[in-house]
Amino acid sequence: MILKATGISKSFGGLIALKNVDFHINSGEILGLIGPNGAGKTTIFNVLTGIYHPEQGNIDFNGEDISKYRPFEICHKGIARTFQVTRAFLDMSCLENVLVGIIGNNPNLSPAEKKSEAIKYLEFVGLKNSVDTQAKNLTLVGKKRLELARALSTHPKLLLLDEVLSGLNTTEMREACDLINIILDKFGITIFWVEHVMSAIMEVSGRIIVLDHGEKIAEGLPKDIANNAEVIEAYLGESDA
Ligand SMILES: Nc1ncnc2c1ncn2[C@@H]1O[C@H](COP(=O)(O)OP(=O)(O)OP(=O)(O)O)[C@@H](O)[C@H]1O
Ligand SMILES: [Mg+2]
Repeated sequence: MILKATGISKSFGGLIALKNVDFHINSGEILGLIGPNGAGKTTIFNVLTGIYHPEQGNIDFNGEDISKYRPFEICHKGIARTFQVTRAFLDMSCLENVLVGIIGNNPNLSPAEKKSEAIKYLEFVGLKNSVDTQAKNLTLVGKKRLELARALSTHPKLLLLDEVLSGLNTTEMREACDLINIILDKFGITIFWVEHVMSAIMEVSGRIIVLDHGEKIAEGLPKDIANNAEVIEAYLGESDA
């Protein structure tokens, strides 16, 4: 097990976003996280990465409670993420964007080594021909790829993906799913993935947890989740599944 969250609660003013949520992530798995809009999925990622601290509960990452750590400390411990709304530095090139992650996490590399490391990640995500392109000039799929390269460049042990498929066409989705599988197989990075595209997350995830109104309502194999009456009632019945 790489991460265990116990009794996580988080509210915003009077609104309860997460209520006593328990879950764990096994090393080497792709864990899916689904649920309706506003269920608290992104809030879980924000709590795991130190953007918010939970009001209750703790988060054990590789044997250490990280629930009070700040985002850069959690990044150094080995958790990286992509954002639902991409967050690249728009006036910087793709190369410079990835170098930001590399410089912070590999201080001992020479400048040439840092550059070749950055290019390696850009190639991996399919941006080999956009190394010098400014991030703002990338297409949506290009921005998503850059987001992934930036996250990978910090050498995570656990990667959190927040709706990496939204807005992509069928071919782009297929390519993104292939990349996610390769990230696990080639780099050995465990993945926790939030997605609304049911066909993809059901196919790629080994296990799925379901959130509704800030509470975990189900957990299990994709085929069991797809047939779970409470999940269908709360979410799948009206989704694009
Ligand atoms: N910074 C914030 N301030 C106030 N309310 C917030 C904040 N962040 C999240 N919320 C609220 O917490 C609840 C959970 O939001 P969250 O973004 O985690 O949902 P989600 O499951 O990711 O939804 P979606 O599928 O639409 O991305 C929502 O009601 C949201 O409005
Ligand atoms: Mg969200």
